[in-house]
Amino acid sequence: MTAKIYSFYTAGRIIGGPGSVKEIGQHISAFGASKALVVTDPGVAKTGLPDKVRQLMEESGVKTGLLSDVIAEPPIGQVDELYERVKDEGYQVLVGIGGGSSLDMTKLLAARMTNDCSVSEFLGIEKVKKPALPMVLIPTTAGTGSEVTPNAIVTLPDQELKVGIVSKHFLPDLVILDPELTLGLPPKLTAATGMDAFIHSLESFISTKANPLSDAFALRSMRLIGRNIRKAFTHGDDLEARHAMLMGSTLGGMALTAAGTAAVHALAYPLGGKFGVPHGVANAMLLVPVMEYNFDAVKPSLAEVADAMGIDTEGRTIDSRAKAVMEELRALVKDLEIPTNMGAFGVTEGDLDFLAQSASKVTRLLGNNPKEMSVEDIREVYSKLL
Ligand SMILES: NC(=O)c1ccc[n+]([C@@H]2O[C@H](COP(=O)([O-])OP(=O)(O)OC[C@H]3O[C@@H](n4cnc5c(N)ncnc54)[C@H](O)[C@@H]3O)[C@@H](O)[C@H]2O)c1
Ligand SMILES: [Fe+2]
Repeated sequence: MTAKIYSFYTAGRIIGGPGSVKEIGQHISAFGASKALVVTDPGVAKTGLPDKVRQLMEESGVKTGLLSDVIAEPPIGQVDELYERVKDEGYQVLVGIGGGSSLDMTKLLAARMTNDCSVSEFLGIEKVKKPALPMVLIPTTAGTGSEVTPNAIVTLPDQELKVGIVSKHFLPDLVILDPELTLGLPPKLTAATGMDAFIHSLESFISTKANPLSDAFALRSMRLIGRNIRKAFTHGDDLEARHAMLMGSTLGGMALTAAGTAAVHALAYPLGGKFGVPHGVANAMLLVPVMEYNFDAVKPSLAEVADAMGIDTEGRTIDSRAKAVMEELRALVKDLEIPTNMGAFGVTEGDLDFLAQSASKVTRLLGNNPKEMSVEDIREVYSKLL
């Protein structure tokens, strides 16, 4: 074990299990709050889940309001815009329900409600001065793990970039992990968001900041996701597979909080910022080429992942186990029908320099990668997806 110093923090309280969302009323009442704002996006609103959650809170005597127009992978300007709409309504608690986009917006809005400055002043690490309004986060994808991370990701449309904002005040007071809320997630979204969750754990496991805490979360997470993602993709109504995916995703969020993601995420940011490639898809596309680049530096770690993923490791060398994991990653991308050509998103050869330059600036994550990457190395990895 290394002698590094590591740290970890997480949500105030987590309740989970099928049907657990039904307990929301009693928990909100325990906050002493009488007025709650539900924050979500139009796609999740259409499923009826936010209305169900509002009804549960109303039954416990809590008045509720609804903001249902969070933009996917939200542009930074939407935070101040939504704040102006709700600032005088007297909300005491925010309830985020949805994927990472809705959960991240809830964190930003809760912090904006108590900090008298534009959201642009939050950009960076620990720039949010005062604690946010109390928050409940309820994920409906599995997923970003945002419900247990101190991060919120926004798009900067002017710079065609995505950036992460980090603050201890983004950790919620309560998380509800109810797999029943993910049963209706369509296959394409199940695949992309599930691969994002898996990559959080794999990247945390190989991160230069990996430590005993992050390893524990990451290995269990990869085990749950690696053994259930195909079933969740093909049989979306399988509650057991959905439960495993949701737990795997939250554990992935814990792993990345303790150790950080690395080059896959760094290279995914410009694909989202300029070409609108959804976060999970961008990561899943980049997984194999980045891990091929990293291979020599991560062989022993990959060999450990083999067992977690259900690969028969009996009598096999480290090299053979690591290669088997690479094969399984390629098979996952294929079986889950993840696109592997950036051309489908409008990326051409002429964009490679922009992509490589942009990604090379994501030093917060590239610094965690076990093998250094020059701008040329990054360009080379992108070029494999054309
Ligand atoms: N804060 C963090 O720690 C963290 C980590 C990773 C990613 N992110 C960010 O999260 C965002 C992506 O989040 P995401 O991948 O969860 O996707 P998302 O929140 O953008 O949602 C994707 C789509 O899925 C739909 N959807 C969600 N749940 C559904 C359900 N149960 N049934 C039917 N449709 C449903 C939504 O309406 C939306 O159209 C990105 O901005 C990414 O950068 C944040
Ligand atoms: Fe991610």
